[in-house]
Amino acid sequence: MDQYVVIGNPIEQSRSPLIHRQFAIQTKQQMDYQKQLVALDQFVSFIEQFKASGGQGCNITVPFKEQAFLIADQLSARAEAAGAVNTLTFKDDGTIIGDNTDGQGLVGDILANNIKIVGRKILLIGAGGAARGCILPLLAQSPSCLTITNRSFDKAKLLSDHFKTAGAIEAVALNELENSYDIIINSTSASLSNQLPNIDRSVISTAQCCYDMVYDAQETCFLAWARELGVPTRLDGLGMLVGQAAESFRLWRGVTPATEDVLASLRAMI
Ligand code: ATR
Repeated sequence: MDQYVVIGNPIEQSRSPLIHRQFAIQTKQQMDYQKQLVALDQFVSFIEQFKASGGQGCNITVPFKEQAFLIADQLSARAEAAGAVNTLTFKDDGTIIGDNTDGQGLVGDILANNIKIVGRKILLIGAGGAARGCILPLLAQSPSCLTITNRSFDKAKLLSDHFKTAGAIEAVALNELENSYDIIINSTSASLSNQLPNIDRSVISTAQCCYDMVYDAQETCFLAWARELGVPTRLDGLGMLVGQAAESFRLWRGVTPATEDVLASLRAMI
């Protein structure tokens, strides 16, 4: 049977095996998907051994996404842009293909919730790895402008400069934001420590949709704030998690699984 694995450190919390096993049943694919804890200095040796034993593909989570980027023989444009890889595919000729499906997971989840991106003004809060990974997939949807803002403005500016040939993109300081963004995406880790980005409430209250890449059993503080301010559509990162998995599955198996039921069962579980 074809073998897949998700590796990380830690890995116990990963829900990827649950998701991929449901995709496999749904699409009638004969495959096995496990999770594996890998020691911090064992990434390369694990990949070589897994590949040599006939493994077909691997999902990569924290802290190995940059190492996965380096080990790949070929990279997709979106992985190249992200500087990180969350999906490795092992070809029969030994080639390792690296891709990054996180941004597509985000975009797919927004679209699946009937929020249009084309022609809209998007605000992306944060300028770390999570933000970087979703810039190309967001620009590919042709928003009227993608504005990046960040606590450390220099990092937002570096990102907007880096991607300026890929679409309409700008960097704006937290205290200079307008009240006209349609979709606001929080890519910072602030919600993990129950903190809100230092943004004026009027910026949030005028949005149509707020997205927090973090998810939790409880509503995140960012989404609770958006609800109090009357934002009609509020989405958390669980949909992005299922969406990135669906895109990895498509790369490996050539079939796109439906995500709605899988997301609902996961939601009931957390
Ligand atoms: P990731 O790979 O998850 O994006 P990262 O590269 O460490 O993680 O980036 C974390 C992001 O969250 C950064 O944009 C960080 O802002 P700074 O660049 O100013 O550090 C942002 N961040 C983390 N905690 C935050 C907080 N409490 N308020 C606002 N931004 C925060």
